[in-house]
Amino acid sequence: MCGIVGYIGDQPAADIILDALKRLEYRGYDSSGIATLEGKKIHLTRAVGKLAQLDTALKNTPQAGNIGIGHTRWATHGGVTEANAHPHLAADEVAIVHNGIIENYAELKAELLAKGHEFSSQTDSEVLAHLFLDIVRQGYKGAQAMQQVLARIKGAFALAVLLRDSPDTLFVARNASPLAIGIEDGLVCVASDAMAMAHLTRNVIYLKDGDYAALSLDELQIFDRDNQLANREIIRTSASPALIDKGGYRHFMEKEIHEQPDAIAHTIAAMTDAKGVLKTGLSDADLGDIRHLVILAAGTSHYAGQVGRYWLEGLAGIPVSVETASEYRYRAPAHLAGGAVVAISQSGESLDTLMALRHAKEMGLKTIAIVNVPESSIAREADIILPTRAGPEIGVASTKAFTAQLTVLFALAVDFGRAKARLSADEAAGLQQKLLSVPSAVGAAIDCFEAIRPIAQSLKKTPSCLFLGRGRLYPLALEAALKLKELSYIHAEGFAAGEMKHGPIALIEEDLPVICLLDGDDLSAKTISNLKEAEARGATIILIATASSAKLVDFDSFRVVIEDCDPLLAPLILAIPAQILAYQTAVEKGTDVDQPRNLAKSVTVE
Ligand code: M6R
Repeated sequence: MCGIVGYIGDQPAADIILDALKRLEYRGYDSSGIATLEGKKIHLTRAVGKLAQLDTALKNTPQAGNIGIGHTRWATHGGVTEANAHPHLAADEVAIVHNGIIENYAELKAELLAKGHEFSSQTDSEVLAHLFLDIVRQGYKGAQAMQQVLARIKGAFALAVLLRDSPDTLFVARNASPLAIGIEDGLVCVASDAMAMAHLTRNVIYLKDGDYAALSLDELQIFDRDNQLANREIIRTSASPALIDKGGYRHFMEKEIHEQPDAIAHTIAAMTDAKGVLKTGLSDADLGDIRHLVILAAGTSHYAGQVGRYWLEGLAGIPVSVETASEYRYRAPAHLAGGAVVAISQSGESLDTLMALRHAKEMGLKTIAIVNVPESSIAREADIILPTRAGPEIGVASTKAFTAQLTVLFALAVDFGRAKARLSADEAAGLQQKLLSVPSAVGAAIDCFEAIRPIAQSLKKTPSCLFLGRGRLYPLALEAALKLKELSYIHAEGFAAGEMKHGPIALIEEDLPVICLLDGDDLSAKTISNLKEAEARGATIILIATASSAKLVDFDSFRVVIEDCDPLLAPLILAIPAQILAYQTAVEKGTDVDQPRNLAKSVTVE
């Protein structure tokens, strides 16, 4: 999604900003731009497409100035054009980059148009630039101008602003969208993700909601939402300063699929106490007090939550509801006493999940976060953090974060089961042993890349396909369908196999690929009957199955077989061939695997 970078120092700002933007590239964007201030002159370069286009434009027309702002844009208001790319200028006096959405922009634009302001883009962000200009022309300067602007705008945003008449100062603000300030001798920088500036400095201040700041090499002035000077803590960021590379793989996604045995093993290790017992970060008091859980998440993290519900209810008898984060706060969710929410997010910045978490907090619920980015907004705002140790996930399609989330959810179910006396110490230890065998089973499953290629070659020709699963494999069918549609743009839907006969079976026609997940559990015979019904109507059957369960089927056209595993943990292992199928199909189709069209890694708008 959109990325912001700002810099003040003794180096050419455009070079530093371009390098920092490259570190945000993985998040997904469609255009980019940089503005620098040289004395009282604002220079601007913008380009549609990849940062390479911006790089070329800057090489053709180098941009001077030691202070500047840059942006990667993921279109929200207005199409993908150079005019809609950031930074936006107003009368060569103001330059602005903006993440988020200004909800009252139409009203503000009408007011500014009436005053004679002229707009050259369709964005809400250009309205902000003109609002600044209007306020500056009323005589407000610097931080006071920012204060006036913030009083007028509604929505979630992070901003970085250059004002021609404050040539040494960078102005920034945030509300719900992340923004961090980096400080080092001789430089100040800002970024919407600390990863973009970790190579410049490890000293980072995370602004709080409602904060705004005036930053220069001499002084950092941070104000809170009540316009009072605020003292914000400087922390040492754990974000990696290294430019993460593909390590010899063709794509980050391929690399991240291979990293899963380590990601799961590290996640388990971080949840193992000094006596070698699997323990999440919940205290015994919390485990005892919490009587039901509400899982809040989006996309893949939501499907992880759905798998987690089977474990939490099955092993610990704790009631769980799994909520779509973007819906949760817009109804009136009712909770019984003793509830807690679990927000699941790879990035820790998905605005839908962050807002849902805040809503739950306002209702008095205890908040637990399963996050992969330890300094993210969700991690900082939750009462308890259960980290996944997947390491930075760069591919837009989530892989290793998903299996690491499943690992934490399984451990949480064991922890609750023990605390609620649903599991004896021996049973819990047995489950821990099973979990410990997952990294090697996942490693073995990764070997199916080549076996899947012919299936991908066949699948790439289809406009549509279905994924089926039952029990714990039903949410995995949803996740497998999401992976395929994200990466290969093939229409794919996941269904509970038993639900087919209630309607979706009408979709079956000659040669429609139906991909079935089988783990050999008690429901497998029923799943196979449902599959037979699809085959009887002409579907092409593709199996993703454990060795024993695959032997029960003799009517499939293609199969991917993995070693037998305990069905309880099968979602963690069958996830691998499902990911590889989506990956190989995308490779066969030649789509952009790491940055699929229209998608962003971290979705910071509603
Ligand atoms: O960072 P989060 O886990 O909060 O992200 C949630 C979804 O946006 C994310 O899982 C998305 O669905 C991925 N593209 C899935 O591959």
